[in-house]
Amino acid sequence: MKSVEDLGDLSGKRVVIRCDFNVPLDGQTITDDGRIKAALPTLEQLHQAGARTTVLAHLGRPKGAVDPKFSLAPVAKRLGELMGLDIKLATDVVGPSAQQTSASLKDGEIALVENVRFEKGETSKDEAERTELAKKYVSFGDFYVSNGFGVVHRKQASVYDVAKLLPSAAGSLVAKEVKVLEGLTADPKRPFVVVLGGAKVADKLAVIDNLLKVADTLVIGGGMAFTFIKAQGHEVGTSLV
Ligand code: 3PG
Repeated sequence: MKSVEDLGDLSGKRVVIRCDFNVPLDGQTITDDGRIKAALPTLEQLHQAGARTTVLAHLGRPKGAVDPKFSLAPVAKRLGELMGLDIKLATDVVGPSAQQTSASLKDGEIALVENVRFEKGETSKDEAERTELAKKYVSFGDFYVSNGFGVVHRKQASVYDVAKLLPSAAGSLVAKEVKVLEGLTADPKRPFVVVLGGAKVADKLAVIDNLLKVADTLVIGGGMAFTFIKAQGHEVGTSLV
């Protein structure tokens, strides 16, 4: 796995980075900016290196069309506050605004394009459709950095397809998570207790299967617990299953 340092001197170079800015919102207010803060070390590194950085990110699950309630505007504002920089947000994903915003970046500057899931090709099951969109992302940079840990398991244009088209590296967030996971699954200290939570269980079933082979105890909490409680034949009322 390559790191950002392996990409060489990035001064003046155009870099496209995938972040996971899927933050909880109450209207326009971000109620937990943890995911933005998690992305800061790599964005700071690119800024310090003098790279011209275009950020790709998703928020929520708009269905391949513009939906203002999933705009990245609150994210761009918060990112600017946290970095102390003026972070521009294009009004589209790969259209004229995005092209112009990305092309006008100066050394060390960072801009966001709108929510990648406003584009139908982003989450398409059709590889040709995804590749067509990924080629447009390529116009934003000569290098690709994968830093959206929460979304790296998705076969989507800004995560999977674009990485095949550009020299790529893992951002520090992804690199750190992979290192921790490797250590935990290859040679864990015992007793090895795994605590899992969150709302979405479907994607985690394969992970749970693998963890069962190495963990001594598996604790499942949060919203996903109800799927298991129901499977055991218990009543869960209106809870998420
Ligand atoms: C998450 O919040 O789990 C990640 O951002 C991935 O989002 P997704 O499940 O909508 O792909």
